[in-house]
Amino acid sequence: MQIGTPLSPSATRVMLLGSGELGKEVIIALQRLGVEVIAVDRYENAPGHQLAHRAYTIDMTDDKALRDLIAKEKPHLIVPEIEALNTDTLAAIEAAGIATVIPTVKAVQLTMNREGIRRLAAEELNLPTSPYAFARSADALRTSIDGHAGAAGIGYPCFIKPTMSSSGKGQSRVTQASEVQAAWDYAATGGRVNLGVVIVEGQIDFDYEITLLTVRAKNAAGEIETYFCAPIGHVQKNGDYVESWQPQAMTAGALEESKRIATAVTDSLGGLGLFGVELFIKGDKVWFSEVSPRPHDTGMVTMCSQRFSEFDLHARAILGLPVDVSLTNAGASAVIYGGIDSKNLKYDGLEAALAVPCSDLRLFGKPESFVKRRMGVALATGKDIEEARSRAKLAASLVTTKA
Ligand SMILES: Nc1ncnc2c1ncn2[C@@H]1O[C@H](COP(=O)(O)OP(=O)(O)O)[C@@H](O)[C@H]1O
Ligand SMILES: [Mg+2]
Repeated sequence: MQIGTPLSPSATRVMLLGSGELGKEVIIALQRLGVEVIAVDRYENAPGHQLAHRAYTIDMTDDKALRDLIAKEKPHLIVPEIEALNTDTLAAIEAAGIATVIPTVKAVQLTMNREGIRRLAAEELNLPTSPYAFARSADALRTSIDGHAGAAGIGYPCFIKPTMSSSGKGQSRVTQASEVQAAWDYAATGGRVNLGVVIVEGQIDFDYEITLLTVRAKNAAGEIETYFCAPIGHVQKNGDYVESWQPQAMTAGALEESKRIATAVTDSLGGLGLFGVELFIKGDKVWFSEVSPRPHDTGMVTMCSQRFSEFDLHARAILGLPVDVSLTNAGASAVIYGGIDSKNLKYDGLEAALAVPCSDLRLFGKPESFVKRRMGVALATGKDIEEARSRAKLAASLVTTKA
């Protein structure tokens, strides 16, 4: 593996498709290794735009816009950071030998849609998942929940989600028949792209949920090996992560089963890079939930808990370089929301927040704030998870925002 000189003919060029807070950190990691980075997003001044060598604002679902930009920039690697992309264009680009899509076109295609990845995990790989069904109308949704002609349905409580969405958008938890119509309407309007298809999943009564960051990287012999970061525990509110910590204590059996599931899924998706495998755990029992073929929001904690963050690991893995997934100490992250709608947000209370022992902050620099938009994250280490979590939450709570 060679890396050239940025802004010269020898440059190693990487194009990020999606340049939010996770892309921003991947860009920093790549630039530390002397990579030339092109940041693309659907809105101007996205976090990653603000520091890449070049920045573009295009509709990444538009075949021509995407093709033209790739032809102009000639990236060696294309790194998707979001799901709403024209994956047919990416498939054609890779088939023509123009660039390599990270981790693979197959992974990007299957994970952009909950139907693709769920059918792969449950029906092809036979991994345990929640009971599920796909519905293309409100009536079909009711039938899949309530059952039909003696056949049992998914029942209540259940989760209804658009097949294309993330961060809990368009997702509802439904406990009775009278709520189903509203959940259908919300899913049909709340997804990133309205496919008119929803997934309904039976609720898993888990003890806790984790993200198992799983890295496919080359070892010293040049062979692809699978590495696991220590498990990350997290708390979700309305489908959006609010707090995460590492390591999450697990039984040996649950950890082993988690690794088995993560290996099966990531082997099947293939390629090089870091994956966030989301799992539900009860005792020694583990269910696969979903997977990101890229750094995961709950993995932001690794910026304070590991020798190399998930972003460093992704950068190294995709470049074909070796990784070190070691944990250095217990850590936690807590989300900072906008709190108000503003295009001129100011962050206050930073002195108090950073006076919390062993704390740190990331303010993403998003140009527009919404009440529930994730604008930053507080990080903290501690002698154990409890201490790290309380410090991170305290630091996040001390950051105040005003218009
Ligand atoms: N079938 C389920 N059983 C129990 N909890 C669920 C289920 N589906 C989703 N959840 C909860 O909602 C969160 C978000 O759901 P997820 O499918 O990961 O959506 P997103 O793609 O928006 O992250 C999960 O992390 C979990 O806390
Ligand atoms: Mg999720």
